[in-house]
Amino acid sequence: MKQITTDFVLAASVLRDGGVIGLPTETVYGLAARVDHETAIGRVFAIKQRPLSHPLIVHAYGVEQCDEWGVLSPIAQVLAQAFWPGPLTILVHRTSQISDQITGGRDTVALRVPEHALARQLIQELGVPVVAPSANRFGRVSPTTAQHVLRDLGDEVDLILDGGVCTIGVESTIIDCTSDTPQLLRPGALTATHITQVTGLVVSPATGPSRSAGMLEHHYAPQCRVELFENNETAQAALLRVRESGQRGSIIDYGSDVVTYAHLLYHDLRECDNDGIDVALCVLPPHDGLGTAIRDRLLKAASG
Ligand code: TXA
Ligand code: MG
Repeated sequence: MKQITTDFVLAASVLRDGGVIGLPTETVYGLAARVDHETAIGRVFAIKQRPLSHPLIVHAYGVEQCDEWGVLSPIAQVLAQAFWPGPLTILVHRTSQISDQITGGRDTVALRVPEHALARQLIQELGVPVVAPSANRFGRVSPTTAQHVLRDLGDEVDLILDGGVCTIGVESTIIDCTSDTPQLLRPGALTATHITQVTGLVVSPATGPSRSAGMLEHHYAPQCRVELFENNETAQAALLRVRESGQRGSIIDYGSDVVTYAHLLYHDLRECDNDGIDVALCVLPPHDGLGTAIRDRLLKAASG
């Protein structure tokens, strides 16, 4: 039986020895290895079955720990000061210290300081940052509990640090700070509007070729089919048709309660698979605030 524990000192010692662990954060669970351990990071890619060209986020205790790995531009410093620790990943130019294995050979690195207390205690105890992609197989639904990690990757990780249910439930907001204006690469709980309100910085939509795997069209997908609806009535009508065809459907709808929607989205998609549902009928939330991030994940889960 794989060890699920709240003992962050033990988890840090496993990482120190080159282990790979399930790591709780406020967004989703990560699959963590220490930033300077090539073999352990190789295992992270292997366990996730993730292409080596998809770079990893470096999770640090604080901004002081970031200078060794990335060069924080003035804009990046403003964002870090305002929103770290929190659900924000900042893309900056890399230093020569960081390995190509982490950056996918790019000239940038993604940095994040998570807010989850146990994650912070772990990184502080370890003394160096960890890399942590979401702890799911590539393209699939991210985990929001230690049990999700156990079910998906339990045989392959060395330990799972149990920090309870992730409060937010969808991945961090990614902001590219490598050009003059910050660009939104992945929407999350920290919205562009809120960034502007707090810092005065205007965040533009991402331009150019996809730079983030989260921007791939098909991602975050359960085994079952995902269909999207603008309101509950059309979802109910579709559910009847699904049943008439002899299949099993389940409606996911939290109305305008986007906080609950984000918190339960991945749990609900996983439950559909556990219950042998053929099609998840998801009602899209309003297109603002956290609703933007949920719509983004749903559109990708439904495509392909
Ligand atoms: O909330 C989160 O960010 C979670 C938790 C565990 O912290 N982590 C997470 O990691 O979502 P991951 O690997 O599943 O998603 C990170 C995204 C990927 O789409 C990756 O391609 C992108 O960030 N990324 C990382 N480094 C990058 C870089 N240098 N340039 C462009 N995109 C990058
Ligand atoms: Mg992911």
